[in-house]
Amino acid sequence: MDLETRLLHGYPVLDEVTGASSIPKYQASTFHQGDFRTHQGYTYTRFGNPTIEAAETCMAELEHGSHALAFSSGMGAINAVLFLLSQGDHIVLCRDIYGGTFQTLTEMLVRFGISYTFVEGNNLASWEKALRPETKFFYLETPSNPLLHVIDIEGVVAIAKKHQIQTICDNTFMTPCYQTPLDLGVDVVVQSATKFLNGHSDVVAGFLVMRDDRLYSALKKHQKMLGAILGVEEAWLFLRGVKTLALRMEKAVASAAQLASYLISHEHVTKVYYPGLKDHPGYDVHQKQANSGGAVLSFELSSVEGVYELFDAIRLPIVAVSLGGVESILSYPWSMSHGCMSEKDRLAAGVTPTLVRLSVGIESLTDLNADLSQALNKVRVT
Ligand SMILES: Cc1ncc(COP(=O)(O)O)c(C=O)c1O
Repeated sequence: MDLETRLLHGYPVLDEVTGASSIPKYQASTFHQGDFRTHQGYTYTRFGNPTIEAAETCMAELEHGSHALAFSSGMGAINAVLFLLSQGDHIVLCRDIYGGTFQTLTEMLVRFGISYTFVEGNNLASWEKALRPETKFFYLETPSNPLLHVIDIEGVVAIAKKHQIQTICDNTFMTPCYQTPLDLGVDVVVQSATKFLNGHSDVVAGFLVMRDDRLYSALKKHQKMLGAILGVEEAWLFLRGVKTLALRMEKAVASAAQLASYLISHEHVTKVYYPGLKDHPGYDVHQKQANSGGAVLSFELSSVEGVYELFDAIRLPIVAVSLGGVESILSYPWSMSHGCMSEKDRLAAGVTPTLVRLSVGIESLTDLNADLSQALNKVRVT
């Protein structure tokens, strides 16, 4: 079945008890045990809940996994998988990683004796060079946030497999509509469902998806022990939002591609980062592993003042942290998604004060283009 169909029929979408066309919110923290001596399916919502499980089954289906686990946020999912690291272990990550992941490693996990190395993700040799006997995982995001760098997933996986280590890939930007890293040999996929999957800027949620049963058992235990489970209401909202994922993405990526071309030609824009552009350095690799440039693009203006002028003048996109909503979202990585990194680390990752990120929504392309155009024209060149 195609993804559009699987989104509507490929996982539990009907209530088995009543036939209701939407999985009900099993808004219960606990379940009556008719005979507590025999194990029954559900006992306590932190251990399992039918609404949350429907969302998990959905994600496993979409990412071509065997299992999925739902969390209260993308960061909840990321922390659950990073807790597979033990004292003395080492992890290699691509340099321009989501700021929260960076902060977890550099401020929290280091306190438990875990070490890390950041590498230029698109340079395969740098992954191999960073390896140590105690390296346990490779961790990548492609395209990355916010610079849309592309990393060769199969290339990184091949090095990992050669050295018997596992690979984790954050697939938030592409969504399973356009990239399925488990098919390329990745062991665990991370999703911030807060973004495109839910798609309506009204839920914070995260998932881990995997095929391996042992990994699943270990991560299921982390879900239970760390306690960052997805709420029932959020699981239900996710199930509602995800049904239109393919339709939303189709519209948003078509507009993003057009806007990227427009921005390139604009005199005030000094650089555009969008993996759907033929002159993007990772274009060929991206084409090999994904089938769309996605709905997020970033661009540079020539001055910080220009950035402020643009934000003051823009009317349609909301100005906010986050991406992947039905509405376009303009954000400023320097102080928003990456504000938790030191200035030195931000600059080392290429996140400059003149960088702007646009998550393209499903508004009319004509209106979006006109709005960007009027706002850019208010930028005075310095
Ligand atoms: C690529 C990526 N991964 C993970 C996260 C964290 O997700 P959440 O905000 O749902 O915790 C984000 C948030 O912006 C993100 O952009």
